[in-house]
Amino acid sequence: GETAMRKWLWAVLLVTLALAVAGCGDDDDDGGDAQQAPAADPSEASGNVAWCIGKDTSGAYGTAIDLFKKENPNVNVRLVELPESADEQRRQLVQRLDAESEECDVLGMDVIWTAEFAAQGWLQDTTEIIEPRQDDFIASTLETAQYEDKYWAVPYHTNAGFLYYRTDQVDQAPDAWEDVYEQAGQNNGIVYQGASYEGLTVNFLELLYSGGGSVLSEDGQEVQVNSPEGEAALEFMAQGVEGGAAPRAVTTYMEEESRRAFENGNATFMRNWPYAFALGKESKIADQFDITTFPSFEGGEPASVLGGINLAISAYSRNPEGAAAFIDFATSEVVQKANFLESASPPCFAATYDDPEVQEEYAFASDLKAAVEQGQARPVSPVYSQISEAIFTNVHDALQGRAEPAAALESMSSDIERALETF
Ligand code: GLC
Repeated sequence: GETAMRKWLWAVLLVTLALAVAGCGDDDDDGGDAQQAPAADPSEASGNVAWCIGKDTSGAYGTAIDLFKKENPNVNVRLVELPESADEQRRQLVQRLDAESEECDVLGMDVIWTAEFAAQGWLQDTTEIIEPRQDDFIASTLETAQYEDKYWAVPYHTNAGFLYYRTDQVDQAPDAWEDVYEQAGQNNGIVYQGASYEGLTVNFLELLYSGGGSVLSEDGQEVQVNSPEGEAALEFMAQGVEGGAAPRAVTTYMEEESRRAFENGNATFMRNWPYAFALGKESKIADQFDITTFPSFEGGEPASVLGGINLAISAYSRNPEGAAAFIDFATSEVVQKANFLESASPPCFAATYDDPEVQEEYAFASDLKAAVEQGQARPVSPVYSQISEAIFTNVHDALQGRAEPAAALESMSSDIERALETF
């Protein structure tokens, strides 16, 4: 009778409403108007937040969650660990986002992905979360979260490579890369990230930039890597493997393999990020190593490549309020300091490096801050991952002796040109 009719009308009304809401969401996506993330307001936040990010090798992510939970019992943040390799992490996130998956609320984004993910419409605009605290961040780290005048993520931890050396095998770290390799050859070698993945691109760029070379022109239109500087950098790396300064096995190493080789006493030098310092100080060579900023090539200037992770809100998150509250907290000074002290995960705030407790713990804190401030970006492009693949596969060929450095460079250059054309 009448109640059945009323129930039916209610059902129709609810379905219509649901469709209208879903339709609005679609319009937002198609119209290219990015969703604005809600301002961070812990009192408005509740529910579940899934944080998808690379493996928690140093324990920093777990610490950030524990600290957050103490102050925000209404929000349940869960860590979804992705693989160790940056490329694998990207592949898994791209797969989810392409399918409009709602699984991840907060995305742990390598600094090199901002342009691509923002251009794809996969991120919410976080400009309002950053603005009130903009001056706290080191400028270079903020730039990595920006694309076309908006912020798409908030800097969480930054990164700059360091040279690790065994204090019981060499008196001091040499000032020139040439000498590092020479001493490595006379001692127990140098290990770095030579596997065919993003880490190898970073290792190559550090040497390329240090020799004054570049990948693209300032305007990003022209490929400039096939240059005398490019050839010198690649020649240097290939000769390092061929001459035995670096073991052949480096062509299979990512960060963790390098760290294990160094901690097991199988290398005199290592190129790695600061996280390996904290873990190394708990290893059996704790008292036999130190770290220093990169040397230069003889007569040149040292250079470093800026790494790091930013936190973004997925466009498909169903809990942007919870995500915003967590991101605001994880990128706060309290967490930056705790993550640095415990895990040597480099903070994005200048002030944290100057903190007396931090200075006391890390003799290298000021050097690291300078390296981050001056850290050079990798090419910024929505097709960065293709550009990088062109770099690391060709560098890898040269390291393995499958191609002469000059030929590898030529092929790198044309592969990058092809990548640029796809955009
Ligand atoms: C570190 C850096 C990241 C880089 C990666 C390469 O995770 O923070 O920026 O892409 O190493 O392996």
